[in-house]
Amino acid sequence: MKPSESLKIDAFSMQIGDIQGVELDRLHALSLSVGWPHRAEDWQFLREAGQGFVALDEIGRVLGSAMWFPHGASLATIGMVITSPRLQTLGAAQWLMKRVLDKISGRDLRLNATRAARRLYLSLDFQPEKTVYQCQGIARVPTTESPAEARGDIRILDASDIPAAIALDAAGFGVRRTALIEKLFGHSIGYGLFDGKKLTAFALCRPFGRGHVVGPVVAQSDADAVAIVRPHVVDHSGSFLRIDTHMDSGEFAAFLAHAGMPVFDTVLTMSLGKRLADFFGGGLAGPKTYALTSQTLG
Ligand SMILES: CC(C)(COP(=O)(O)OP(=O)(O)OC[C@H]1O[C@@H](n2cnc3c(N)ncnc32)[C@H](O)[C@@H]1OP(=O)(O)O)[C@@H](O)C(=O)NCCC(=O)NCCS
Repeated sequence: MKPSESLKIDAFSMQIGDIQGVELDRLHALSLSVGWPHRAEDWQFLREAGQGFVALDEIGRVLGSAMWFPHGASLATIGMVITSPRLQTLGAAQWLMKRVLDKISGRDLRLNATRAARRLYLSLDFQPEKTVYQCQGIARVPTTESPAEARGDIRILDASDIPAAIALDAAGFGVRRTALIEKLFGHSIGYGLFDGKKLTAFALCRPFGRGHVVGPVVAQSDADAVAIVRPHVVDHSGSFLRIDTHMDSGEFAAFLAHAGMPVFDTVLTMSLGKRLADFFGGGLAGPKTYALTSQTLG
């Protein structure tokens, strides 16, 4: 059975709408209402990278949102699931999510759930995978450590490095995110670690929310990840910097705390369909994702 196009709860009567047709300011107002840091530009970036639904009241106000982002042919991430505070706990998010799931059925799904949303996703059969540590603060170059010994040369990436970055990202993420990585290159500064001509690790950094966000970061080891994130910390020393990582211990996690980015909050990566481990054939060797692109994009 198809999910319904409209929902009536309490005094609210809502229609489903396409997120692409909504004024950016209205989406921005929705995320501000739940205390999220996204700027209107961040919404625009996400709208260009994905698709979504909004819940609209009778006079066109946006009371809820839910988006999805296809990565390759078989995977999608879900994000920007928000309902207006005056509407919460009444079933609106459940209704929006069912619309999204209907639209993208057949794909493996991944998302990062806030505490507020965990129960919602569990009820939709998403499985908990691992914790994401949202690390942020005023960046500072750690004085306590000597720069990690990089196993190669570090340089700024340009458009000619995009194919290598797509391949490295796929090894960490599980599928090739060609369109997304190409788009991120247009908005980011990137540092890469090279062994001769071969890209072995990279870290992108772009404006987001209250300052800048570093991600994705893909590397073979903690030392390499530190080595390519460090130049971004230098560039943004004294201003707001954020990284979302699955790493809870080790040299990389310690580096973030020393670089002025302690853990601010946590979310939970969840999946529906293929589990995270299924994407990597059980092998733990090889490049790893040290930082997500964002909680929304994975
Ligand atoms: C998370 C959020 C989207 C949930 O929206 P919502 O409209 O309140 O959700 P629903 O009313 O559809 O409820 C969904 C489920 O959570 C449960 N739930 C909702 N609020 C709850 C609460 N305060 N306490 C316990 N359970 C709650 C509902 O009972 C329902 O469970 P069920 O499916 O087993 O019946 C909303 O709280 C929100 O926008 N929060 C801020 C932004 C955010 O964190 N977004 C999630 C991003 S991953």
